[in-house]
Amino acid sequence: MAERAAIVTGASSGIGLAIAHVLGEEGHGLTIASRRAEKLEAAAAGLRDAGFDVEAVAANMASEDEIRAVVERHRERFGRLDVLVNNAGVGVGAPIGETETKRLDMQLDVNLRSIVLFYRECVDLLRAAGAEHRKALVVNTASIAGKTGQAWLSIYSATKFGVVGFTQSMNKELGTQGVKSCALCPGFVDTAMTDFVKQQVSPEEMIRPADIGEIVRALLRLSPACVVPEVVFQRPDEVL
Ligand SMILES: NC(=O)c1ccc[n+]([C@@H]2O[C@H](COP(=O)([O-])OP(=O)(O)OC[C@H]3O[C@@H](n4cnc5c(N)ncnc54)[C@H](OP(=O)(O)O)[C@@H]3O)[C@@H](O)[C@H]2O)c1
Repeated sequence: MAERAAIVTGASSGIGLAIAHVLGEEGHGLTIASRRAEKLEAAAAGLRDAGFDVEAVAANMASEDEIRAVVERHRERFGRLDVLVNNAGVGVGAPIGETETKRLDMQLDVNLRSIVLFYRECVDLLRAAGAEHRKALVVNTASIAGKTGQAWLSIYSATKFGVVGFTQSMNKELGTQGVKSCALCPGFVDTAMTDFVKQQVSPEEMIRPADIGEIVRALLRLSPACVVPEVVFQRPDEVL
């Protein structure tokens, strides 16, 4: 059994999968969770092939019950939680006058509400890890859209601003208990989520999922005294 353990949501592709690989390399047992079971199982198989200890739980992050089930399966399998990565997210573009309530609610639920619920369900495990080594870590994938408001992605932007703010609150609330939180704020990353813009911005011009993974590796290696509340990843032509 691995000496450290992590949960990664939205780990079936893109940024979450890259972070899961880094956590595996850094000696963590992994519970990975995302919505579509088949895609998740394929990701789990790849991680196991790399030699990692992996539990895969298909779950919709819009569902409180399914979030609870992810945490329970992790607790049963690993019994500890050193790193929580709240990464699952969705973005639906629309002008404000055409915003559909169903899509508004989905983005609020998956991008923001699920993060609150994961902290609540995991806080006892995180505090226990924090008491043991003072380096429990929660990584929340926000976005550059959580640092500057985006037209036609206003709901997505609002949820990601919420993630940045909630991360600050969690550092104030849990930081002295050895639980550090960091919001990741990338610009365009070469994943399925940016397929819509790849005719204007080529994948080669985008940030790589592995770049995000390497920052998480660095966060793991910081001393307990050093909290990094957020990391902004920019492309050269989108400097804030
Ligand atoms: N790519 C970018 O340019 C960029 C920039 C800034 C921030 N981000 C953020 O990065 C995070 C990861 O996105 P990505 O770029 O890596 O895209 P991705 O490859 O499409 O990954 C999204 C992940 O989230 C999961 N997911 C989506 N909706 C879910 C739901 N309702 N319940 C459970 N899992 C769900 C997906 O699983 P399924 O496929 O099964 O739904 C997938 O594993 C998101 O929070 C996104 O907002 C991305």
